[in-house]
Amino acid sequence: MNYYPLVKPLLFQLDAETSHYLTLKLLNIAHQCGLDRVLNPPIMTKPLMVMGLEFANPVGLAAGLDKNGDYIDSLAGLGFGSIEIGTVTPRPQAGNPKPRLFRLPSHNAIINRMGFNNQGVDYLLQQVTASQYKGVLGINIGKNFDTPIEQATEDYLICLRKAYQAASYITINISSPNTKNLRQLQQGDEIKKLLSALKEEQQTLQQQHNKYTPLVVKIAPDLNDDEIQHIASLLMEFSIDGVIATNTTIDRSAIQGHVFADEAGGLSGTPVKQQATYVVSRLADELQGKLAIIAAGGIMNTADAQEKLAAGADLVQIYSGLIFKGPNLVHEIMQGL
Ligand SMILES: Cc1cc2nc3c(=O)[nH]c(=O)nc-3n(C[C@H](O)[C@H](O)[C@H](O)COP(=O)(O)O)c2cc1C
Repeated sequence: MNYYPLVKPLLFQLDAETSHYLTLKLLNIAHQCGLDRVLNPPIMTKPLMVMGLEFANPVGLAAGLDKNGDYIDSLAGLGFGSIEIGTVTPRPQAGNPKPRLFRLPSHNAIINRMGFNNQGVDYLLQQVTASQYKGVLGINIGKNFDTPIEQATEDYLICLRKAYQAASYITINISSPNTKNLRQLQQGDEIKKLLSALKEEQQTLQQQHNKYTPLVVKIAPDLNDDEIQHIASLLMEFSIDGVIATNTTIDRSAIQGHVFADEAGGLSGTPVKQQATYVVSRLADELQGKLAIIAAGGIMNTADAQEKLAAGADLVQIYSGLIFKGPNLVHEIMQGL
């Protein structure tokens, strides 16, 4: 039963962040009462192997919706083929002052400048341990806002070490626009230093835990062709396992004139769709199947997901689509694929 059209007008009356947490809490309550098994459509599986992991289907949850891993089991009930939690940082942090989340329903878009609000990697791991979920779980890691950018590698290493065993794969987020200078890590020698340190640590951890946890790098849509090429060649050089394209954009051309157009932060949803697909296709050309490509950006229906797969993606992820289309979206996309 698709109840979202009934609930959505009420949720959209509330301020965006209140509505976000209320929705997740309701989802949790429905899960705890077993009501979600009645309300949610049957989960559709279409298993596929990517990065040596078996995904139940190609439609995953993108990072940022469940930053602390508080809602893993309830979200799993929506039928995702994978769930990515985080971004998590070594220490808890409050994120940016509110308001920091804006909905633009006329554009199926969101602007956020949350700033990695999260309860820290230790808390997130407790939540993972407490969950019953057995599917593919990505843990997305970042750096604390007050860690100098020159010491960012150490923050990623702390999170990698702690999350390695629990994660199916680890995403290295170097593309959020809401942590000062973070996206600098996508450039020049910075990315080289970071990838080489993380890859070396992955090898040590593999021996220690007798388990290989793939590393995935998440990039921005606002990269030019040379930058995409540079990143792609380093991803191959360091044998990184996958790439997520893309994070939110700082480009506002698609929402010119909107009352929120000048709000700082990352723009997601339909306005980022085309550029995200372009980045996926450039990556597919450069990588020639050597790395997995996970596409995110503006997927609102089956056709949008198909566009990303046709551009060369192995898997897709959704975030904004869930806010505008509701929890049946995974099922709807899967039916059409
Ligand atoms: C409110 C919000 C918070 C987000 N937080 C994160 C985050 O913590 N880490 C991350 O890698 N991406 C984050 N993202 C980006 C999404 O994971 C996704 O890459 C992006 O929104 C594009 O997909 P979409 O158009 O389906 O939303 C966030 C997006 C939104 C809307």
